[in-house]
Amino acid sequence: MNANQDRFKKIISHAKEYGFIFQSSEIYDGLSAVYDYAQNGVELKNNIKKYWWASMVQMNDNIVGLDSSILMHPTTWKASGHVDAFNDPLIDNKDSKLRYRADVLIEDYIGKIETKINKEITKAKKRFGDAFDEDQFRKTNIRVLENQKKIDNATSKMKKCFEDDDLVALKQLIVDLEISDPVSGSKNWTDIKQFNLMFSTSIGASSESASEIYLRPETAQGIFVNFLNVQKSSRKKIPFGIAQIGKAFRNEIIARQFIFRMREFEQMEMQFFVKPGTQSDWYKIWKENRIKWHKELGLGEENYRFHDHDKLAHYADAACDIEFNFPFGFKELEGIHSRTDFDLTKHEEYSGKKLRYFDPEINESYVPYVVETSIGLDRMFLAVLAASFKDEKLEEGNSRTVLKIPDFLAPYKLAILPLVKKDGLSEYAKKLYDELKIHYNITYDEKDAVGRRYRRQDAIGTPICLTVDHDSLKDDTVTLRFRDSMDQIRVNIADIKSEIDDRISLHHWLT
Ligand code: GAP
Repeated sequence: MNANQDRFKKIISHAKEYGFIFQSSEIYDGLSAVYDYAQNGVELKNNIKKYWWASMVQMNDNIVGLDSSILMHPTTWKASGHVDAFNDPLIDNKDSKLRYRADVLIEDYIGKIETKINKEITKAKKRFGDAFDEDQFRKTNIRVLENQKKIDNATSKMKKCFEDDDLVALKQLIVDLEISDPVSGSKNWTDIKQFNLMFSTSIGASSESASEIYLRPETAQGIFVNFLNVQKSSRKKIPFGIAQIGKAFRNEIIARQFIFRMREFEQMEMQFFVKPGTQSDWYKIWKENRIKWHKELGLGEENYRFHDHDKLAHYADAACDIEFNFPFGFKELEGIHSRTDFDLTKHEEYSGKKLRYFDPEINESYVPYVVETSIGLDRMFLAVLAASFKDEKLEEGNSRTVLKIPDFLAPYKLAILPLVKKDGLSEYAKKLYDELKIHYNITYDEKDAVGRRYRRQDAIGTPICLTVDHDSLKDDTVTLRFRDSMDQIRVNIADIKSEIDDRISLHHWLT
């Protein structure tokens, strides 16, 4: 097992041990790719939602919220193209019996070659130091050029297979590239088949009257079908956006990597409605806005990169992912898509209702174009958890596991700890707890030695511990101990709130 796999395993068991994430229905051996958020997990998740919602809806005059239903009229999914085209091209390995997404196998092949190129570049950088010119090196180094040719060849052939909807050619590409099963190494592949990812259920009282409906595979369609209702009732002028957070369901076949790919997950999506012809400007603006939002969190700027799509979805004229450096490598965290007028036009066609905006500036009605930002809440959770998880060596051979979660996202903002249970310290500490709990989500702990209690709070990411000792009873001062630095300061209880506010308020991240 390599160091990253080992680290990822530790993160998963930490998430269970400290009440962040449990396997769904664990007592029945679990349900694959479905997870529950435990007492600390739900707090972190809610705080991520608050951060996204505040920066989208609260901070933008021209974005409003929505909470549409999970169940929608089945024609919605016919119109959106999901019934016919929301498919994964799947291929089985005949020896290992494992199933893969054909495009992912090819992308992983490309990823490996990219890694080889990057290694050459890192080596050359070391050798040439400041004089190194990466562009020049990429253009002239024979090994890099050969590898780049392989990447371009695989990329363009895969793109053509998808454009032509040619699954036979796609399988042939896997064979030609000599791609083997990453687990068994076997190259004994079946043909590729399309598999629809929507979960269906039925609505209606009796089997005769019941009709088939779907659990939504994305929240976006709830926004599209409500576009005109929201625009009219909010009196918003284009450009404006509608944001929503909610569950989505996909019958993922390759469901590995913990909460990265789930069958039931949450999305935070925003559809921005713009005048036709302005979409590529807005696409650029939203790309910049979203990467800035991520980087401001402080999880490490080097952990993000854009991946521009070659293979565009049926509705898009431009698309990219913001990828995050998860413990298993750079993978999609958020998608930004210029969806054209595809969705609204299709809903007009299927519903027979107009979904047009009357633009008073040009005295004309039109179907707006849409730029969408779509982030997986669970992937964001995993990004925060993975980047925050640190095993630290301390002095005197000690160590600690600490979650350096951005303070305002931490499940608890403060832990109140009486040094000992006796001499009236508990009573004093509980009084402080009662006074402060109205302002923040805080916790109280009086069990075990204070050092062990600090470690417990470190492990769930509590940014500040407040310790009440015997002096507190005399002079109303307490010790504040900070998670990341482990520094301690002494403050008067009258100043606690301002000390905490200075450090953990969401306000700092929004302004
Ligand atoms: N409305 C556009 C849309 O749904 P997508 O790229 O299919 O686009 C958007 O999904 C985001 O939703 C992804 O970037 C990812 O973060 C998240 N997501 C998609 N499938 C997921 C799954 N099975 N489990 C967890 N998150 C998922």
